[in-house]
Amino acid sequence: MKKLSAALVILFAAGSAVFGGGSGQQGKGQVPLVGIAMPETHVQRWQKDGANLKAAVEKRGYRADVAYGDADQNQQNRQIQTFLTNGAKLLIVANVNDGVGAAIADAARDKVPVIAYDRLIMNSGDYDYYITFNNFKVGQFQGQGIEEGLNLRSATPDSPKYITLFAGSPTDNNAKFFFDGAMSVLKPYVDKGVLKVVGPYPPDSSDNANFQRIATENWQAPVAKTRMENLLNGDAAGVTLDAILAPNDTLARAIIEACLADAKYNKDAGGKLPVITGQDAEFASALSIKNGQQYMTVFKDTNKLAEAAVILADQVIKGETPNIPGATLASGNLASIGNTGKKTVKAYLLEPVIIKQGNVNVPVDAGFYSASEAEQLK
Ligand code: BGC
Repeated sequence: MKKLSAALVILFAAGSAVFGGGSGQQGKGQVPLVGIAMPETHVQRWQKDGANLKAAVEKRGYRADVAYGDADQNQQNRQIQTFLTNGAKLLIVANVNDGVGAAIADAARDKVPVIAYDRLIMNSGDYDYYITFNNFKVGQFQGQGIEEGLNLRSATPDSPKYITLFAGSPTDNNAKFFFDGAMSVLKPYVDKGVLKVVGPYPPDSSDNANFQRIATENWQAPVAKTRMENLLNGDAAGVTLDAILAPNDTLARAIIEACLADAKYNKDAGGKLPVITGQDAEFASALSIKNGQQYMTVFKDTNKLAEAAVILADQVIKGETPNIPGATLASGNLASIGNTGKKTVKAYLLEPVIIKQGNVNVPVDAGFYSASEAEQLK
């Protein structure tokens, strides 16, 4: 008996050497914990991301804790502290804003590696990995959707098209990538005078004053809806908008709602919706595209992103050199995607897909929706 317990002590000690690290209270020999911090639930994808990540972590034999920050960085920081106190071995974090830096510094102090998930954690030098989609390309797809929907290649200055611009949260680094990608396609048409911007016009996100004017704090749909209503009664009152650059599906649908209240844009009153972009391939937007309201979206297969992030997590925990099927390490001029302002972290990129009425089947076939949702998209 004595021998057996001595053997067990050695076993547990070995276990904690493999799975040790972190100054928290993780019991010796316990299954290592991965902490998953998601930013919000009001944009549907994050609920799925949280659930997908948890399942993928558990599939690899770890324990997983998921917390949602309700778009409140202080709340998310407290959640991260709890992960650390509980002895988390690694953190996967999609942050709310730069205020996460203090919590990431605590993780570094505890030697707990952090993977920035989908959103780059800016102004921090305390972590090494980032996994996301090519977000500049997401924006390019939005720009191309408008280019095609308005047939801008054939447009002439004597009959210009009118557009109004929206961007995502000014505190989310992705919002800048999306906008800059879109403007890389649209700005040449503005310069030629064939596309006229109604309302504030930042040529790119570095025009901070105007970018703030078109940005949507915390990606909140009611904020975008109110701004659209104000535009319709203000800057856009005297024109008919041909397009609206909307940065994601949640905001696109809020903008559509505001437009439909205006006869000019309501089919039932003889009007026509502008070409409206989106992102995330949320079911409601896929249906809206199928029904001819929203013009396009961008499918980012977040099931694959979660799986890739957890492969990365597993390799980091095991001290292996990351090698992730389906994700490319950003290099060359893309390497700056991982530039936090304090250091350049390794950025792994997955590819987005543009979705229009003709290929709504792509996310359906990828198993992105529930069976009943898929049925409605047929
Ligand atoms: C994500 C988008 C999402 C947005 C709002 C961005 O960081 O990349 O997929 O729509 O946040 O939650």
